[in-house]
Amino acid sequence: MNRPVLEGVRLNAPAYVRHARLLSWVAEMAALTEAREVYWCDGSQEEYDRLCAQLVAAGTMKRLNPELRPNSYLACSDPSDVARVEDRTYICSQRKEDAGPTNNWMAPAEMRELLQTGQKALFRGAMRGRTLYVVPFSMGPIGSPIAHIGVELSDSPYVAVNMKIMTRMGRAVLDVLGSDGFFVPCIHTVGAPLEAGQKDAAWPCNKTKYIVHYPETQEIWSYGSGYGGNALLGKKCFALRIASTMGRDQGWLAEHMLILGVTSPKGKKYHVAAAFPSACGKTNFAMLIPPAGLKGWKVTTIGDDIAWIKPHADGRLYAINPEAGYFGVAPGTNHKTNENCMASLARDVIFTNVALTDDGDVWWEGMTDTPPAHLTDWQGKDWTPGIAKETGAKAAHPNARFTVSAINNPALDAEWDNPNGVAIDAFIFGGRRSTTVPLVTEARDWTEGVYMAATMGSETTAAAAGAQGVVRRDPFAMLPFTGYNMSDYFQHWLDLGAKLQASGSTLPKIYCVNWFRKGADGKFVWPGYGENMRVLEWMVERLEGTGGGEEHVFGVTPNYEHLNWTGLDFSRAQFDQVTRIDAAEWKAEMVLHSELFNQLSYHLPAALQATKSKIEARLAA
Ligand code: OXD
Ligand code: MN
Repeated sequence: MNRPVLEGVRLNAPAYVRHARLLSWVAEMAALTEAREVYWCDGSQEEYDRLCAQLVAAGTMKRLNPELRPNSYLACSDPSDVARVEDRTYICSQRKEDAGPTNNWMAPAEMRELLQTGQKALFRGAMRGRTLYVVPFSMGPIGSPIAHIGVELSDSPYVAVNMKIMTRMGRAVLDVLGSDGFFVPCIHTVGAPLEAGQKDAAWPCNKTKYIVHYPETQEIWSYGSGYGGNALLGKKCFALRIASTMGRDQGWLAEHMLILGVTSPKGKKYHVAAAFPSACGKTNFAMLIPPAGLKGWKVTTIGDDIAWIKPHADGRLYAINPEAGYFGVAPGTNHKTNENCMASLARDVIFTNVALTDDGDVWWEGMTDTPPAHLTDWQGKDWTPGIAKETGAKAAHPNARFTVSAINNPALDAEWDNPNGVAIDAFIFGGRRSTTVPLVTEARDWTEGVYMAATMGSETTAAAAGAQGVVRRDPFAMLPFTGYNMSDYFQHWLDLGAKLQASGSTLPKIYCVNWFRKGADGKFVWPGYGENMRVLEWMVERLEGTGGGEEHVFGVTPNYEHLNWTGLDFSRAQFDQVTRIDAAEWKAEMVLHSELFNQLSYHLPAALQATKSKIEARLAA
């Protein structure tokens, strides 16, 4: 095979790289970005340790006290680079209508000019003085019929080590890719070229940021950020935005969903996929420990953030977690809220933007009731409870994260790595709503479920830059992640359901939940966390045909008698507070649904309008 020649830089491709298109693309990108050298990641532990040591030497990461937190690191980002940047995220489809009203759009040629082809294109020379890491990764078990492969080129070794945890990464992926396999090309730069003799920043990045997706050519280009979903391109960019378009074209689903196994005391196992917006407790739900009162129930984790779901020959939907690790929000996590998560974080973790204790361990708001007397905050400043009281300064950034391998999770499901995935029995959709939406509702049919998911609203959190606590519509918890027109995405869900139903299969049931209703005192009424098992138990009873429920305007809800209260003191009055359907609130809510449907009127499925009319008629009755 002819290996491309790269002027001035050696391509350095190991002999096992046999993919001509990959080699020529790497050569082209190295030339465009003027990378100093090219390094191919093999995914070995030796490589991970070496890159981490290099990051420590560069000041990007600190090694934590190995006695307290073995094999773990803390990275602190530039204060301006702490979250996904939705306003800088683009879907560059040929037609604006195909990106739809919920995505930023620019014509592909115009975006390419800006990033790639223009005289002053941002990627030109962007990696000068830096190493270009070639990171081959599989989203999903290597070789799984549900998995797909990507290759990320990045000038950030922090990205390379995080990708090692978050994906199946390295040589084994290229072996499966062979000489002509399909891969999604993902290119990332921090956008901070180094001139000769220039000292590097501990967290290089650029004020200008672009997170760009070309759905027709299935490419990802990310410029200027080193953080999370902006830079770890397998996650939101590939596994959701690009994969959602692949799913539309190929008849499957890429969803912002955790996946869990629920085993009943009788030993029957169900699989549930649940969509919640960012920072609404997906990781907690995925690692739920049933309360003592619900003896014999077991919950196991398959995934905590993303599900790829494909129809199987048996007519059911099978899901894999395309990721291999968790990039979760640290603040609020503690031994009471998520014991499994705390156990997962005991070692082998990369923390980002949490606080450092004086003995070289980590701390974040909510980890312990009493904070340490002194910390170094995520920006490297002294922090004490006194300072916090005076200035409100947070020790950890509210969107501080941990990156840890799934295999650290004591509740990991035995099937988590099964290439065939697990058959989904139920979908759950949940927003963060302090009012209006009841604790749990079952959709009467697939279309009603799609309506519930499509009209989901949620109060915004720190996972994305911007104002927090504002209610925004977040259809399917996919608002920032659907790589195409949202109404076409709704139609895709309806079509898939209709197709499965026509083939005689039983569709998963669909539920809408809300753990976040507040009382007059502003406090959450529902205890949440492990107690959510009570709601899961009810769902399983409904799947088995034994659970009770009452029909109302938009679905079926349990009444007080239908839930198991063993071991929990939760009064009828409290239950009423979290389940009450207030006609006035719902009339106001329907106005918001109308606003959403007006925004999404292009290609909005008629079936959703019809469902809305039915709800309105029931409300008026
Ligand atoms: C995430 C997010 O990081 O949804 O998972 O923002
Ligand atoms: Mn997420």
